[in-house]
Amino acid sequence: MLPNQNPTETAAWQRLEMLFLTMQATPMREMFDEDPSRFEKFHTQFNDILVDYSKNIINEEVIKELISLAREVELKDAIDALFRGEAINQTEGRSVLHIALRNRANTPILVDDADIMQDVNKVLDQMKNFSTNLHNGTWKGFSGKTITDVVNIGIGGSDLGPYMVTEALRPYWKNITPHFVSNVDGTHIAETLKRVNPETTLFIIASKTFTTQETMTNAESARTWFLEKTGGKGEVAKHFVAVSTNQKEVTKFGIAPENMFVFWDWVGGRYSLWSSIGLSIVCTIGFENFEKLLSGAHAVDNHFKNEPFETNIPVILALIGIWYNNFFGAASEAILPYDQYLHRFAAYFQQGNMESNGKSVDRNGEPVTYQTGPVIWGEPGTNGQHAFYQLIHQGTKLIPCDFIAPAISQNPISDHHDKLLSNYFAQTEALMRGRTREEVEQELAKAGLDKDSIAFHAPFRVFEGNRPSNSILFKKLTPETLGSLIALYEHKIFAQGIIWNIFSFDQWGVELGKVLAKKILPELTTTEEITSHDSSTNGLINYFKRLKSE
Ligand code: F6P
Repeated sequence: MLPNQNPTETAAWQRLEMLFLTMQATPMREMFDEDPSRFEKFHTQFNDILVDYSKNIINEEVIKELISLAREVELKDAIDALFRGEAINQTEGRSVLHIALRNRANTPILVDDADIMQDVNKVLDQMKNFSTNLHNGTWKGFSGKTITDVVNIGIGGSDLGPYMVTEALRPYWKNITPHFVSNVDGTHIAETLKRVNPETTLFIIASKTFTTQETMTNAESARTWFLEKTGGKGEVAKHFVAVSTNQKEVTKFGIAPENMFVFWDWVGGRYSLWSSIGLSIVCTIGFENFEKLLSGAHAVDNHFKNEPFETNIPVILALIGIWYNNFFGAASEAILPYDQYLHRFAAYFQQGNMESNGKSVDRNGEPVTYQTGPVIWGEPGTNGQHAFYQLIHQGTKLIPCDFIAPAISQNPISDHHDKLLSNYFAQTEALMRGRTREEVEQELAKAGLDKDSIAFHAPFRVFEGNRPSNSILFKKLTPETLGSLIALYEHKIFAQGIIWNIFSFDQWGVELGKVLAKKILPELTTTEEITSHDSSTNGLINYFKRLKSE
């Protein structure tokens, strides 16, 4: 069982409220000027991943109190409960064991008194054999040709992770091209099918429940397309496999048990890329690279479990996030990778974070009286700089940012990477230091402006600064490093959920829309005027029906 403590009732929280009053009036620029050892004090490292959190509105006392908060809410006990495989997903009565999927040490992990590692390894072997057969051409399509394309059909956790990882690890691709279809909008599957040949394409139907409307609709359309294109000659068994926990539904769809890759209810959808949901990853980058991804994550699991809070990266990142979310009132966090290959990283953690910690009821079933999960968003740099950074620098909202970059590019073309990284360093410096009125006036005077012009122009060119950021810098985006990065963020989310006293592993909030959509679907095909909803919904449905029948 998880500890159960309202964080705002801890002594540390009260002290942090007091500290906030002084810290909000303490510019980081001054703290840097006064203390040359700030970087030394406020950075930490895991393997080659350096996390510099010195450009935050913190001092040693703030960090000390944030760590006291983590101790008071018994975060360490919660971490131990997670790793012991306790049923900490209490609202669904399940363990939360994505850490078992990447447990490369193979130490026993018990669920209902049985060691689950045997099952985990069995499926990993199945994925290894399957992908080897695909890569060496042993697995052939119905007409005897080798497979060149894999289409993963899934949504949410059954799509975002594999899509993000395969994009991030493009330099490791083998001889198979992955495609991802998630949206029930027919455009997504139609456009994807235009790019593949039925003779050489394998469809992976990835769905934990195998009942998700979007995925099942896309899967049916893919099968219909396949049979039509092959004039009925295509063998579904050679071109469709399933990844699911639901054998009954998989069989009903027509996929043979030997072509099914199982996983278990203790794997949450948004934490499932490490399971057989990662099959499309394995098919794309090969099993060895997938193992490296798992190893990178496993190493971080050990770090999270064993490292003292003072140097525990997920804990530190979680606490800094809470400092802004709950004391400064920041509503969002931006994830800004300076690596084009990580272009889906923020989108991936939108689900990871917002589906986990977008909750407003605490572990007692009571409404929370404090803020919980932030809005997560972001795009790769430098594109974001020319889009939304204006607001981060000079807007009225405080947006803590994570800047992520590799030191070595996978594509070392001329001086692209130094230019990219010069922007990466410049942005966090500019956000922290800003530009004072005095500095602006001096610059304008140097440019030859007269007194009146300077007075007019100066206010618009002042940057307040004091905008916080974390900088995450590592050597190269390898499978291990990516595995580690993902696990760092996963555990940050876990630690925050514990401190906010919420359940991070259910997602009841996505249910209502699904239920209503099911009710509305038949209403869209009748000729009657719809009157069963509120006037807005009725009006929209009836207008839609008029438009489509015109
Ligand atoms: O969005 C809700 C959700 O249940 C996610 O948690 C999950 O990742 C996604 O739907 C897909 O579910 P499934 O894998 O069962 O198709």
